[in-house]
Order: sequence, then structure tokens, then C-alpha cells
Amino acid sequence: MDTLFVKDYDEMSKKGFEVFREIVETKENPVVSINTGGTTRGFYKLLVEAVNDGLDISNTTIFVLDEYIGPKDGVYTVYTYMKENFLDLVDVQPKEVHFIDGSTDDPEAEIERYKKLLDENPRDFQLLGLGTNGHIGANEPGTPFDAEMFLAQHTDSTIQSTMREYGISREEAPTAMITLGFKEILEAEKIVLMISGEHKAEATKALIEGEVTEDNPASILQKYDNATVIIDEEAASMLKEA
Ligand code: PGA
Repeated sequence: MDTLFVKDYDEMSKKGFEVFREIVETKENPVVSINTGGTTRGFYKLLVEAVNDGLDISNTTIFVLDEYIGPKDGVYTVYTYMKENFLDLVDVQPKEVHFIDGSTDDPEAEIERYKKLLDENPRDFQLLGLGTNGHIGANEPGTPFDAEMFLAQHTDSTIQSTMREYGISREEAPTAMITLGFKEILEAEKIVLMISGEHKAEATKALIEGEVTEDNPASILQKYDNATVIIDEEAASMLKEA
């Protein structure tokens, strides 16, 4: 695992986007899996600017990291986020965008469908954010490191983050999501984890200085040479040396 220390949110977004851009520009038919959330908004801004400025994504296939269980067009869904922050804003569409259907009444069948697509489309790139409890995707603390795509129940801290991010009440907030497991996340040829803000400082410290343990999901990245963690100054503020 490489670590890249940057000044702030904007620089983190730029560095993360540079990795993505190089893959999209150099691979013939790039396949990327990208996440959503507060951390990644700056990345999408850069992506939209780049596409409208000529970056060709017409050969790029996109997967999503996860999707909340709930109506497809809910304010908090990955589908809504991707439309509002990316797909509705670009002049050229990607070759394909594969969403997870979180409105399904048969999550197991949906997981099987998506897993098959993932198997058929090895990813060149996986983008990640870090939960305040160390989660990646919805692989919450305690999830086995060999977990395959599954229906995850949210921990309280994740529910709180969703409420904060989308300004919704606890009753409105989803409590479960379908997520790629560690297995599918770690299969990508290049993995980038972006971290910004003081509220992530503790989780960052555990990731960089802690043990590799299922109690700290992101720690598995320590074992992956193809993973880069991009950390801004606030997120790095509790590290011994940064
Ligand atoms: P955030 O979420 O980018 O909204 O902080 C990251 C995550 O919980 O995975």
C-alpha cells in the first residue's frame, strides 16, 4: 500500500482523478468501479469538466461499489448521486453503467446478477472512501476479509453519516445496502482510497498505524501493493509522522 499525503480536499480529488484519468486514457476498454459520498464529490466535478473538455469515456464501462436498499430515485441512492453529480452533466455517456438495483424485493437474485457481470468484467480501477469506523463499501467492522458481494446491515455510525450527508431523518435513512465484498473490491488492478477531513483522522490512524484486522476493514489494503491511499492534512492529523 502506498500513501500519498496532500494538503486538502481539492488536492486529494485531483490526485485521485489523475489515476482514474490515466487508466481511462491508456486502456482500450477501461472497466472502473467507482464510489459515491462526500469524499468523492470533488472527483466527479473534475470528471465532468474533463469529459466536457474532451476526455473520451465512450469506451469506459462503469460499475458502482454499492447501493442502498430503498426506492431507486431516493435522495440518498447511488443511482441519484451518479445522475446528479455525473451522468446528467456530461456531453458524452460512458459505454455502459451498471447499477445495483436496491429497490429489488429479491436482493439475493440481484447480487447473483451483479456478481456475474463483475466476473465477466475484471476491473482496472476501484475507487473507495473510508468510513469513520474504517469501513470500505459497506464492509463494516467484523466483516470477514473473504466476503463476497452481500446485503449489509448498516452500523449506527454509517446511518449517522448518511443522515448528515443527505440531510435526512433517521426514519428516512436506509439501514441496509448491497455492497461489493472485499473479494470484488480487491480484485481491481488499481485501488485508490481517498480520505479527507478531521472526522476521518481516527480511522486514518487505525488504517496507517494499526494492525491488519477484520475489526478495521480498510486495514486489509496494507497488504496490497496496488493500493494507493490519498490523505489530506486534516485526516492525517493524528498520525505519528505524516
Ligand atoms: P463519505 O463516505 O465520503 O461520505 O465520508 C465514505 C464512506 O463512508 O465510505
